[in-house]
Amino acid sequence: MRYDDKTLVVIGGGSGIGLATAEAFVKGGGRVVIGGRSPGRLEAARERLGAAARAATIDVFDPASVAAFFAPLERIDHLFTPAATYAIAPFDHPDEAALASPLDGKFWGQVRCVRAAAPKLASDGSVVLMSGAASARPPRGAALYAAANGAIEALGRGLAVDLAPVRVNVIAPGTIDGDLWARRPAQVRDAAFAGQAAGSLAGRPGTQAEIAQAVLFLLTNGFTTGATLFADGGYSLR
Ligand SMILES: NC(=O)c1ccc[n+]([C@@H]2O[C@H](COP(=O)([O-])OP(=O)(O)OC[C@H]3O[C@@H](n4cnc5c(N)ncnc54)[C@H](OP(=O)(O)O)[C@@H]3O)[C@@H](O)[C@H]2O)c1
Repeated sequence: MRYDDKTLVVIGGGSGIGLATAEAFVKGGGRVVIGGRSPGRLEAARERLGAAARAATIDVFDPASVAAFFAPLERIDHLFTPAATYAIAPFDHPDEAALASPLDGKFWGQVRCVRAAAPKLASDGSVVLMSGAASARPPRGAALYAAANGAIEALGRGLAVDLAPVRVNVIAPGTIDGDLWARRPAQVRDAAFAGQAAGSLAGRPGTQAEIAQAVLFLLTNGFTTGATLFADGGYSLR
């Protein structure tokens, strides 16, 4: 697939699934603008992506930072918003801020980005929001995280109506062997990978490249809108 003359904005494009998607888009001839908080991480990603990439800092928690990121952008063909920072706390946790963290750190950040991007989105363009397969099959102790992902999927359906003809879809990955888990303690990572392997039909974690491919399908398929794609190796079916 070719993406010549198209611009993809990836919020959270300095690492992980966002960077893998940016790489695949550039490989297909497109231009990317990547955003994230850490200038060092962004610069390393920009160098890896080459001349077709621009990078700028953004913190999706901060409305002023979101406005400043989007202000200089003219036309946006595609927007992908995997940036998120959250804790996963059980529903009886005493700290309400911890309970609100998946909504604050994953749901609201994406709302802010889509609001800022909407006036600049090409009418034949599209948005992909980031959810997670925990919405359909919550692990124990993750009810609030599962609920935030469910809210993101409903948000995608609502925005598909409100932003049409711009298409809006949602990707819901299973556990992915990549940057997010590489930063977590080995014991936690091994348990998550074993859970995905044992609890899915694929019998393994996914790769960032596999999710990038699924995101690019949602970004570019002209007949798909309001959909949530579970790219989870069948995890949500078991
Ligand atoms: N990996 C998985 O197994 C998996 C499975 C299901 C769902 N997901 C979802 O995928 C999303 C991204 O995960 P990933 O695997 O691609 O890992 P990742 O490497 O952690 O990617 C997240 C990116 O977002 C940026 N970011 C975080 N908070 C931000 C903020 N407040 N403002 C702007 N940028 C921010 C990070 O850079 P800075 O820290 O420099 O800002 C980072 O580059 C998350 O929403 C996660 O829930 C992942």
